[in-house]
Amino acid sequence: MTGQFYVVGVGPGDPELMTLKAARLLEKCPVWFVPKAHRDGDSTALAILAGTVDTRDKEILELHFPMKKIRMGEEPDPEVATAWRAAAEAILAKLRAGADVAFPTLGDPAIYSTGFYVCDTLLKIAPELPVAIVPGVSSLGASAAAAGQPLCLGDDRLVVIPATFENGRLRETLEQFDTVVLMKVHRVMPRVVGLLTELDLLDRAVLVERSSRSDQRVRRDLAAAASEELHYFSTVIVRK
Ligand SMILES: C[S@@+](CC[C@H](N)C(=O)[O-])C[C@H]1O[C@@H](n2cnc3c(N)ncnc32)[C@H](O)[C@@H]1O
Repeated sequence: MTGQFYVVGVGPGDPELMTLKAARLLEKCPVWFVPKAHRDGDSTALAILAGTVDTRDKEILELHFPMKKIRMGEEPDPEVATAWRAAAEAILAKLRAGADVAFPTLGDPAIYSTGFYVCDTLLKIAPELPVAIVPGVSSLGASAAAAGQPLCLGDDRLVVIPATFENGRLRETLEQFDTVVLMKVHRVMPRVVGLLTELDLLDRAVLVERSSRSDQRVRRDLAAAASEELHYFSTVIVRK
């Protein structure tokens, strides 16, 4: 019998923010495919869950996904498409051998997660496969909590956008919405700070680094932060 595939959100870093369901399903699956952004780096998702779930009797297989921009409605970079396809085929082989397979992913799978691209690729090859998405605590909620502020209240309009896209798109978004969450800011902070200054929004912005982790930092000095090397787990919330 074919195994079941689970994309499992493991939360933003604090092991206590991993759900009971995520822990139970990870314990149940004998095979885990863990995503990595760098070929020679570690898997963040694995590091988060390893504090809670016993990894010793698991078959843990690493998958490398190159970090490239993906524009919806356009073909992905061939290197990225190849990585999705290779991941789907490797997962499929385990499922067809009868194993339940987990794909742990940072935060919530519904937010900029490779898990969904892999799922889509898998279902294109084998539409009949049993696939389940297990939600997790997102870094959006964890970052807002760290900053001690809501993301939206009343009739506020909230938008989430990767800060890596061009200024025109970011400017338009910052002008139109009440709260803007800028993800993936770590390499583009000088540009983000320039734009926020131009729009007179710098004092409405907060930078949260490594939310929910023991080394979490909440910063209002975005201009100073822009001249520093920031961690990949950095998010800016702009609330007007
Ligand atoms: C590819 S997205 C994944 C988001 C994830 N699926 C989620 O639900 O949080 C990666 C971005 O999420 C944000 N992020 C992830 N973990 C974070 C954390 N602990 N603190 C602050 N931002 C974080 C950063 O903006 C990072 O560049």
